[in-house]
Amino acid sequence: MLVAAGVVFAGAVGLLVLGWIRRDRPGLPLLGESERLNTGMVLLFGMAVPLVVVSALFVVANVFLIRDTEAPAGDKTEMTVTAVGHQWFWEIRYPSSGAVTANEIHIPVETSVDLVARSADVIHSFWVPELNRKVDMIPGKTNRIELYAEEPGVFRGQCSEFCGLQHANMAFDVVAEPRQDFDAWLAREAEPAQQPEGAEEQRGKREFLASACASCHTIRGTSARGTVGPDLTHLAGRRTLGALTIPNRHGDLSRWIADPQSIKPGNRMPDLNLGGARLRAIVAYLSGLK
Ligand code: CUA
Repeated sequence: MLVAAGVVFAGAVGLLVLGWIRRDRPGLPLLGESERLNTGMVLLFGMAVPLVVVSALFVVANVFLIRDTEAPAGDKTEMTVTAVGHQWFWEIRYPSSGAVTANEIHIPVETSVDLVARSADVIHSFWVPELNRKVDMIPGKTNRIELYAEEPGVFRGQCSEFCGLQHANMAFDVVAEPRQDFDAWLAREAEPAQQPEGAEEQRGKREFLASACASCHTIRGTSARGTVGPDLTHLAGRRTLGALTIPNRHGDLSRWIADPQSIKPGNRMPDLNLGGARLRAIVAYLSGLK
């Protein structure tokens, strides 16, 4: 497509340049004196060529390219991952193991992954430019696309359909890793949350379950089963917070919980007025959820 567009662009610019070179000789038309020839040029390059080029690109895109980028056919699928778009984060599910995470998709390299795209609220668009084209996430509809990474690496994904105030901060990472690293990651993600060990962490767990946190977030293995916000069962193992808004470090997590609206204005997490010892305890507990 780029080559075709480049040729057309070069042709158009070439004709413009030719006209500019001959600007002082109005009596000398481009290819001769014939009015019919000039009209013919306009019809040829103004209508016939664009019609043919655009139709050809349409056929190439819809008959060949779309098919090549679609989800793998049933027998070629080696793994299924479900991504659900929310304002403004990504819920990531691994149906084969029951693992649920957010804003970070791990896949094994050289594996054909069937990515199932859904939405929990408005229209989003799932896009990892280095791995495939975009696929829309439409409420009530299921779309599928293939994710395939040839080499290990971290590939940035981004919502590419305007979905509200924090659309730009709705990003995620795809981490492609060797099979055994992926298997170890998935096995850990599928487990319930670790039990807190120290006194501070245990207090943090009690505070978390007693506060409004638990009505929006799930921590598997506890009574927290909210589904409004991301699953936090293995929060500490993730690279970022707020869908790639800030890194997931101890100080950043504390800053986020203390005042999420100043970091990501408009997001659904309210300021719970947690401070001092309660905040420290909750951060200690969540930091232990590896
Ligand atoms: Cu979600 Cu834009």
